[in-house]
Order: sequence, then C-alpha cells, then structure tokens
Amino acid sequence: MIQIAPSILSADFARLAESIHSVEAAGAHLIHLDVMDGHFVPNITIGPPVVKSIRKVTSLPLDVHLMIEDPDAYIPAFAEAGADWISVHFETCKHLNRTLQLIRFHKLKAGVVLNPATPISCLDEVLRLVNHVLIMSVNPGFGGQKFIVTTLEKIDRLRKVIQHRALPVRIEVDGGVAFDNLRDLIASGAEILVIGSQIFGSENPGETLRKIIDLSQRCSVSSA
Ligand code: DX5
Ligand code: ZN
Repeated sequence: MIQIAPSILSADFARLAESIHSVEAAGAHLIHLDVMDGHFVPNITIGPPVVKSIRKVTSLPLDVHLMIEDPDAYIPAFAEAGADWISVHFETCKHLNRTLQLIRFHKLKAGVVLNPATPISCLDEVLRLVNHVLIMSVNPGFGGQKFIVTTLEKIDRLRKVIQHRALPVRIEVDGGVAFDNLRDLIASGAEILVIGSQIFGSENPGETLRKIIDLSQRCSVSSA
C-alpha cells in the first residue's frame, strides 16, 4: 500500500495542530517533520520541543527527517520527544552503522536519506539495518522545489537491489512530489510519498490529500 506523509514544512507554523488534524482526518499515514540545523542545509526549522508538542496532538507516527550535522548527539532527544521513525542523511554520518544502531536501540524505525548526488551503492553495507530508504528528489533545505526527474531511475534501481536481496526495506521519496509525478513515482517503486507544498500550499489541505490518496491507490493498482 502506498503511504502519504504530509510534510508540515509548508504549513502555517502558528497553526500546526489545526494543519495536522486536517490531514489526519483526510487519511494521512504519517506526519513528516523536517529538522534543519542551518549547517548541513541552509535553513533552520524545528527541534525536539516542537516534536514533543506535536506528539501530543496526533496519534499518527512521526517521521522525523534529520537534516543536521552530528545526528548521534540529538537522536536520544528526538526519541524522547516521541519520534517513531528517524531518518539520517548518509552525508552527515561518519559512522553510519553506529548511528543506525542507535536509532534501533531506541526501538524506532531507522532510515537512511540520500541526497540527489549520492549513489545508491552507498547503501550496500547498511541496507540490512534499515526499515526504509529516503530518496531526496530535490536538494534538501526548502519546500516547493522542482522535482529532479532522474530520481525515477534511481528509485527503480534501488527497488531492484532490494528485491534481489529480498530485504523488507521500503522506499520513501521526498521533494517536489505532486499530482503530475505520482504515477511515475509509484511505477518506479516509491512506497511512501512525502508531500509538503502540494498539500499545505493548497486552499483545502484535507481535500487535496484525499485526492492524492485516491490517485495513488489507483496508480498502485494499475502498476501492480
Ligand atoms: C525538503 C524537505 C521536504 C519538503 C518537501 O528539504 O525534506 O520534506 O517539505 O516539500 P515539497 O513537497 O514542497 O517539495
Ligand atoms: Zn523531508
């Protein structure tokens, strides 16, 4: 089943609970939280206190995307704040194996994120340790960017590796996901779609999400 993870980066930060409730009521499967430190990416967003507050207003799993240097120093605080999934960038981890073990030690779902320029071969030694791989389809840092089309082929190659090795790893995609590329993404093998501006930049986020869920279900049936 295709899962949709609305990214609150494009929501009104003064009305987060309301935004989250609107997508929860419309059938969101996860809430995607973008954590940025102003070092790894040129933007600053939220930290553990905000995650802790969000934890209180939704029962959906919180999918925390860490775009920060030295993630090991902060993983315990995000676990404590109520994260369910934590994804770390390959590009920020000196000892990726250790970082993934740390996430698993906290009994959370562990994911590795790859920037558009990072090849999937980087995953060879760690694919067994992850629940999901998050493929960036824009350079991280901002919502509302243009989808990088070569991502489709990258997802397709990753899907084949996962199938060949018979691993229970799911593929998530983040950046520029919208109505016009849903079908191709699902056909390539994306299973979890992070969507920010298309949902929260629309007049009625709940209604937009319902349409996205409907289309993604139809696409997954036709590409099965
Ligand atoms: C970008 C973030 C994304 C962002 C996606 O660095 O990781 O999660 O919110 O937003 P859209 O869907 O607008 O590209
Ligand atoms: Zn993200």
